[in-house]
Amino acid sequence: MKIIIANWKMNPDNTEDARRIASRIEHGMLATDRSKVEVSICPPFVFMPVVKHAVHFVKIGAQDISFAETGPWTGEISAKHLLEFGTRYVIIGHSERRLLGEDSDMIREKIKISLEHQLEPIVCVGNAVKKSSTIGTIKRLLKNQIKVELHGIDLHKSRLTIAYEPAWAISRGLGTGQHADSRQTADVIAYIKEETRDAARVIYGGSINARNVHEFVAFRDIDGALVGSASLDPLEFLKIIKEFAK
Ligand code: PGA
Repeated sequence: MKIIIANWKMNPDNTEDARRIASRIEHGMLATDRSKVEVSICPPFVFMPVVKHAVHFVKIGAQDISFAETGPWTGEISAKHLLEFGTRYVIIGHSERRLLGEDSDMIREKIKISLEHQLEPIVCVGNAVKKSSTIGTIKRLLKNQIKVELHGIDLHKSRLTIAYEPAWAISRGLGTGQHADSRQTADVIAYIKEETRDAARVIYGGSINARNVHEFVAFRDIDGALVGSASLDPLEFLKIIKEFAK
């Protein structure tokens, strides 16, 4: 089963747009082979209720979670809050959150707390990979990152997805708008699977759109995609979903 995660980031601007986009994606899922692909929308927290209301086949995800179980943490959203909305997935360690100061220790705590609450982490790695990095450098970097950030987590007992997402490949903000080479991505993903003894699904994120998705679908090791900008356009996002559902 492939998995496609919509990372809406700080979009859209209002509730009505969130409802409209979610409903259209849900509608498209009716005509999709749902035995082949699972889809989750990760909206801003404030839109989770309206998105939850608009979907059935599409699963709800969150863009972040608090490292703390409960307590006096201004602005934080706990695992229990997320569970109120039937949340299934949580993106953890996205490069845009690391930029705001999230470090490996905090990321590890967030993974642990998610798993304790049966929320499936989508752990973003490879953020520090450069466009010019050689495959050897990429593997060294990932080996270290996986060792540190997944330390103490029993992968064979946990449902966990890893997203290989070099920050340079993101469509806006930190990135260049150019996607990573799909063949190299498939090699990197095979390596991550080796390092995690095949215990995790591994997906790719970074400027995936309806025009380039076929390049990634061609490689069996790539278990799906983390999609930012293109997930805000229902037609475009549904084309991506359909490619993975083929
Ligand atoms: P993008 O974002 O698809 O817009 O590049 C992906 C992400 O940052 O998760």
